[in-house]
Amino acid sequence: MIVTTDQLFKVAYGQFAVGAYNINNMEQTEGLFRGNVQSKAPFILQISKGARKYAGVKMLEAIIRCADAEYPDAIFAVHLDHGDEKTCYDCIDSGFYSSVMIDASHESLEENIAITRRVVERAHAKGISVEAELGMLGGVEEDIAVDEDNAMLTDPDQAVEFVERSGCDCLAVAIGTSHGAYKFKGRQGLHFKRIEEIQKRLPGFPLVMHGSSSVPADEVRRINEAGGGMDPSAKGVNEDEFARAASLGVTKVNIDTDGRLVWTRVHREFFRDHPEQFDFRKPGEIFVQAYADFIAHKNEKLLSAGKLDVVRASLK
Ligand code: G3H
Ligand code: 13P
Ligand code: ZN
Repeated sequence: MIVTTDQLFKVAYGQFAVGAYNINNMEQTEGLFRGNVQSKAPFILQISKGARKYAGVKMLEAIIRCADAEYPDAIFAVHLDHGDEKTCYDCIDSGFYSSVMIDASHESLEENIAITRRVVERAHAKGISVEAELGMLGGVEEDIAVDEDNAMLTDPDQAVEFVERSGCDCLAVAIGTSHGAYKFKGRQGLHFKRIEEIQKRLPGFPLVMHGSSSVPADEVRRINEAGGGMDPSAKGVNEDEFARAASLGVTKVNIDTDGRLVWTRVHREFFRDHPEQFDFRKPGEIFVQAYADFIAHKNEKLLSAGKLDVVRASLK
């Protein structure tokens, strides 16, 4: 069942974080639904501009509607990840999305507020909520490259002004993470002091953590042993820090890279071990179950596992 992102946030805030997982194809979608139903967790399914281009808007929507029918117990929101203004309007007008993210964090503060405000007005008129971003994550967000040295943590006072003036419903904050597989060079850890300062000034307001993949060393090792060429120093977020972040108002946790690592590991190992094979459905089946198990594991760490019944009760 597709619900609004707000409905999930109301139950989750301060108690657990909702996993926001990107999808691009049928296998990922199938594994995502299976893993969430298996672990009894509500979730956010998110679609990037890249996914919309890769699979096609209609194809993605059809896959999601089929999965929804196939898994009647699933409770989820559909979200646009890292949208520009035009894509936000396309999604708002489509009637399919629960929420959109307008990512204007690379603009000046004034411009970011003005763009976000415009999107909020269009979205709220249709009952859709808006995620905005303030501060800069290191790493790469689609076509926007942010040098790691310029990575800026979100300023707590600016966050208050931004929320008040933009009218956004939740805020992606820069708290030490970055997108992709290479997040930390030296110190590895979330900036909890900064999260606390933001939460103190915005009590009850849902915060979003991007770049939350943990990039397990074992996964990187297996990929490399099966012919991959990842830098073995790749490092991500310690997933044992999710629970503390959730208690401080981090209500949505975005995970994409880790799922790509599962796909890469399964397929590399399969074709290494079965060089004679060319039926892609065999590794596809292995991937769907491995992805489902991966999602269930993440949900345990986010404390969203087992929360489906309390969310269902809150909808009545
Ligand atoms: O933060 C970006 C997400 O990982 C989506 O990646 O834009 O390559 O689909 P993508
Ligand atoms: P990762 O690259 O850490 O998976 O982050 C994904 C993300 O933030 C999607 O918006
Ligand atoms: Zn992101």
